Amino acid sequence: MGINYSMCWEDPEVLNRALDISNKDDVLSIVSGGENLFAILLNNPRNLIGIDINKEQIYITKLKIAAIKTLNFEEFIQFLGFNTCENRLSLLDKIKVNLTKEEIDYWEDNRSFITDGIIHCGKFERYLERFRKYFLPLIISKKGINQFLRLGSLENQEEYYEKYWDTWRFRLIFRLFFSKKGIKKGRDEEYFNYSKKENISNHYFMKTKYALTKIPIKTNYFMQYILTGKILAPFKYHPYLDKDNFQLLKRSVNKIKFINRSVNEYIKEQSDNKFSKFNLSDIFELNSQNEYEDLMEEIARLSKENGKICYWNNLVPRFKHIKNKNLIMDNFTSNNLHSKDRVHFYSRFILEDINLTN
Ligand SMILES: C[S@@+](CC[C@H](N)C(=O)[O-])C[C@H]1O[C@@H](n2cnc3c(N)ncnc32)[C@H](O)[C@@H]1O
Repeated sequence: MGINYSMCWEDPEVLNRALDISNKDDVLSIVSGGENLFAILLNNPRNLIGIDINKEQIYITKLKIAAIKTLNFEEFIQFLGFNTCENRLSLLDKIKVNLTKEEIDYWEDNRSFITDGIIHCGKFERYLERFRKYFLPLIISKKGINQFLRLGSLENQEEYYEKYWDTWRFRLIFRLFFSKKGIKKGRDEEYFNYSKKENISNHYFMKTKYALTKIPIKTNYFMQYILTGKILAPFKYHPYLDKDNFQLLKRSVNKIKFINRSVNEYIKEQSDNKFSKFNLSDIFELNSQNEYEDLMEEIARLSKENGKICYWNNLVPRFKHIKNKNLIMDNFTSNNLHSKDRVHFYSRFILEDINLTN
């Protein structure tokens, strides 16, 4: 399958505020690049299971875990690829004590991922890199980007957008690079199977405009990464890169258990009342409406009383499941969190309360 996402493109702030996790929670979460498992873990849940259909997403997350356990903070940041590093392979050698033979073989076969910094190795991140390297300089200069990243208010961002971003070049290049054909180079084709959206590039263009003008850039490390390939130190706004959280992560990462399967299959086999909180990323992009509704039915069965589930919609509308009365969408919180989401490309964020007495 390959590594599709070397970082998790869902906002941990949105996730944490939605799920409100405590030490009484048993959580099931999609793995993706792993960061949101770490964000959840920092709330000290009782149990945390990470599930992903793609084994390589689990490999990269377990590599990050091994790095957290073995390295000091500075080495960790360098190893990931956020700072320059003389010799990442020697850091890999150190980390190997916390990897299985299968995982070591995988990383030995993919040494370039290590030497380049693993945070950049996903299919999606490499697609963004091509945009940054070859197309972005035609829209705005490096100096301009650096000025933009330093802006301290949304008014300034809006002014800057009108003056420097909002040009025919930006529109043209964006439409070419982020067309359906273009995006398929960064995202697997199957993610488009159920999408009926006509003008994808226009849809993403409007979302990007919103992110550049309505979401504070200083704390938006997702946009910082898209524009520069870096996240600005001191990483305060990224839970797992925050130095203050590092020791806590070191002590608790062993708590995460991994399952390499499809959620749809896994949950059918689990007993009732097993989990209280669910993070399902935007997996329903890959599901028909019927599959989505069946899965929500199973979630309700699997959930403890007063559980919560959250997920995102990207291009495929999956937010209505009339069959199931136990799940009640929290429209206010969903919309409020969606309006602040630093990952700008989603159409919707959905938080539902699970009420088993209905
Ligand atoms: C759904 S993807 C989306 C990532 C990101 N939100 C985006 O669209 O750019 C996140 C992860 O979910 C995994 N995934 C997708 N469908 C799944 C399923 N039914 N069960 C388990 N994992 C799944 C993928 O392998 C991937 O690692």
